[in-house]
Amino acid sequence: MLSIIVAKARNNIIGKNNQLLWHLPDDMKRFKALTTGHPVIMGRKTFESIGKPLPNRENIVFTTNPDFSMEAENVKVVHGIEEIKEYIDSEENAFVIGGAMIYNLLLPYTKVLYVTEINKDFEGDTFFTKINEEEWKEISRQEGPADGENDFSYEYVVYKRIKNVWIWSWRNNSRKTKTPCKYVHGECVYSE
Ligand SMILES: NC(=O)c1ccc[n+]([C@@H]2O[C@H](COP(=O)([O-])OP(=O)(O)OC[C@H]3O[C@@H](n4cnc5c(N)ncnc54)[C@H](OP(=O)(O)O)[C@@H]3O)[C@@H](O)[C@H]2O)c1
Repeated sequence: MLSIIVAKARNNIIGKNNQLLWHLPDDMKRFKALTTGHPVIMGRKTFESIGKPLPNRENIVFTTNPDFSMEAENVKVVHGIEEIKEYIDSEENAFVIGGAMIYNLLLPYTKVLYVTEINKDFEGDTFFTKINEEEWKEISRQEGPADGENDFSYEYVVYKRIKNVWIWSWRNNSRKTKTPCKYVHGECVYSE
């Protein structure tokens, strides 16, 4: 199963110029504690922004570039959602760690959101989508500890999916039959 982990500003900003906008040591520790031992799934830009594979985790990197390769043994390069079906179907947790393109791509398949909500607006160029109350239920909220370096507070919030996203899509154009699909970038890629 997929879980998203994200830190977002009050105005949903998550990054600028391919970088994070804040330094929250406790949040980083929590990220490490939650994700270590689990696959982490990210976009090529986030992978390059981190600068190295995250240790003790299988790093799955999305790219459309067929020539993108990585020597490290804990890195798997994927080019489409069908290549991560085993993680979607597994009972084990795999964490989607960003950025915006990959959050948007995989949100329909995600069951849990681990969101660090920062109580301040930021200026940036990358957003997390608005969390739709019809699809997500808040199951816990905990104040993040002040770390002495920040003039803003933040909360760790966990949301659980309460409604699947089904949209109608032409799955089989030749027969013109409509099949309920989980929908990604205009294509029905996974149906139940
Ligand atoms: N606050 C947070 O929690 C958080 C977490 C992570 C990242 N961020 C921030 O988010 C920003 C980066 O986000 P981003 O949206 O620009 O980039 P991204 O999602 O990290 O990566 C985008 C790349 O992923 C690949 N990709 C996207 N869709 C694909 C698909 N359907 N199939 C195959 N490959 C696909 C493409 O790589 P190619 O171009 O190689 O084809 C695309 O350029 C940075 O500012 C980063 O700091 C914030």
